[in-house]
Amino acid sequence: MPAIGLGTWQLTGDEASSDIEHALGIGYRMIDTSGDYGNQPQIGEALRSASVPREQVFLVTKVEEDEDAYSSTEAKLEELGVDQVDLILIHRPPPSGAGEDLWDGLLRAKADGLAAEAGVSNYTTEQVDRLAEASGERPAVNQIEWSPFGHSDEVLEHARENGVVIQAYSPLTRTERLDDPTLRKIGDRHGKTPAQVLIRWCIQAGTVPLPKASSAEHREENLDVFDFELRADDMDRLGALNEHYSSLSELPYV
Ligand SMILES: NC(=O)c1ccc[n+]([C@@H]2O[C@H](COP(=O)([O-])OP(=O)(O)OC[C@H]3O[C@@H](n4cnc5c(N)ncnc54)[C@H](OP(=O)(O)O)[C@@H]3O)[C@@H](O)[C@H]2O)c1
Repeated sequence: MPAIGLGTWQLTGDEASSDIEHALGIGYRMIDTSGDYGNQPQIGEALRSASVPREQVFLVTKVEEDEDAYSSTEAKLEELGVDQVDLILIHRPPPSGAGEDLWDGLLRAKADGLAAEAGVSNYTTEQVDRLAEASGERPAVNQIEWSPFGHSDEVLEHARENGVVIQAYSPLTRTERLDDPTLRKIGDRHGKTPAQVLIRWCIQAGTVPLPKASSAEHREENLDVFDFELRADDMDRLGALNEHYSSLSELPYV
């Protein structure tokens, strides 16, 4: 899995396809979407017209908790116009339980080659464990809201111990905390923006950020994070900003 991906929530309409094509052109190699983002056809179109071969792009999509997971996966492939996605996720756990039936459907989809890997999103560690116990197969990924302002050492430790990749969604706090003085101070020292500091913090903590940007300048800026390193004390100071912040008010571990 690439170290960073492009989030695409609210990347819709006629521009979505050219936005994705631009992203692939400047080096993004992972695209995160979902049926309810309304942009799967445009993403498919961009994949077909981009100069990057399909096998070099890590494509992530999701099934909803009230759907039949297997047939929903088939429908997502149809919309995207691809034979396989690289990762299929349960978008969120159902209102009760861990979604064992959904997980069973995703594992069948994986066994039939519709998805290379299967995982979850917005899951607690307990729910991840329940799926693993029920099926013998642990989700490869848990995609959750994650930033210095909202994160959990326990979730990260559990992920490390169990080989689960944490994909960090809303890593830029949907811009709500970009004015934080600590971010700016650390960024200034490295000649980087607050957004770049947030993305770098995710990467150095061992998570995989999925920043969304409809602006071409933002997309370029967000990819320009591989020529500097946050010091250990920067990482600690950023981690200490934790206020369990969530733009969606639904951190699964609070
Ligand atoms: N699994 C789930 O339940 C779930 C939930 C939420 C999100 N996600 C995924 O995670 C992705 C990212 O999360 P998100 O879209 O909620 O929020 P985000 O990535 O934290 O923030 C996106 C916002 O930041 C702005 N931005 C981007 N780069 C910037 C920069 N360098 N400087 C200043 N502002 C910048 C964007 O502006 P412009 O667009 O104007 O460039 C947009 O307003 C989503 O798109 C989606 O793929 C998954």
